[in-house]
Amino acid sequence: MRHLLSAADLEAAEVAEILDLAEQMALVQSRPVKKLPALRGRTVVNLFFEDSTRTRSSFELAGKWLSADVINISAKGSSASKGESLRDTVLTVASMGIDAMVVRHMASGAPLQVARWFAAQGLGVHVVNAGDGTHEHPTQALLDAFTLRRHFRAQDPGRSDALAGRRVAVVGDITHSRVARSNVLLLTTLGAEVVLVAPPTLLPSGVGTWPVEVSHDLDAVLPDVDAVMMLRVQRERMSGGYFPTPREYTVGYGLTRTRLGLLRPGTPICHPGPMNRGLEISADAADSAGSLVLDQVAAGVAVRMSVLYQLLGGQDDAGDTTGAVR
Ligand code: CP
Repeated sequence: MRHLLSAADLEAAEVAEILDLAEQMALVQSRPVKKLPALRGRTVVNLFFEDSTRTRSSFELAGKWLSADVINISAKGSSASKGESLRDTVLTVASMGIDAMVVRHMASGAPLQVARWFAAQGLGVHVVNAGDGTHEHPTQALLDAFTLRRHFRAQDPGRSDALAGRRVAVVGDITHSRVARSNVLLLTTLGAEVVLVAPPTLLPSGVGTWPVEVSHDLDAVLPDVDAVMMLRVQRERMSGGYFPTPREYTVGYGLTRTRLGLLRPGTPICHPGPMNRGLEISADAADSAGSLVLDQVAAGVAVRMSVLYQLLGGQDDAGDTTGAVR
């Protein structure tokens, strides 16, 4: 195993290893001079064929702060805009001698396909899924776990398994959310209970097989959770319009100022961003004392430094990795 394609690839001990190393990386992140020599001489390509602010910039910073050479490629400005296929694009770039490719793509399964193309060509390039369609976003789930683990450890320093037994509500547009899929996999691997809260129209048909509870009643769920994770309503993936309407959605599923009062004091509020303020989350909630939104962003750099190091650190060949990241 040599890639990070899905949160399902990670066992609890491997997640702990990544998060523990991310804690060390976070120390570097808070220094005035942030460079570590760990990945000097390694090359990371960020291939982003779908827009991003947080993931792309944090992977770039992560690579640079570990002293890797980093280049960014997007569809616009590359020969993809002239019709070059994804396969030809990634094999062209990989043939230059790179070590890792971070892939964001609008098609679910694209990073897995890229990894298969590399394997078929005998290329030892590591692939990281930076968000593929509605499928998965494993590094987002890792940074969410890192953020919540830190929060719970600060509350209860004696507990090392800070997420085990915690009840986490994941609220909103589950159907289109790769963040929800990766978080369900990772949080349950770490022993948390997940309750999905969504209108029936924004739940995927196979949700009955997921290891979660499902509710359509946010007001009933909020008083009984240890953390709440709001999801972006992904209007760009709803070609035929969507139901409920934005107004109905906010009334039923938005984290409004009134609903903040249903949470136990100090309950952390997460959102992967970008936020639709006033739709799924009010400004009162996003900017509240319980909001961890910017902590999540900061964690993104440390966690991605950890992932890149797990994949590329401590090896100078094109062979297998430490095994910590599949
Ligand atoms: N959370 C997240 O993936 O944000 P970006 O789309 O800005 O990368």
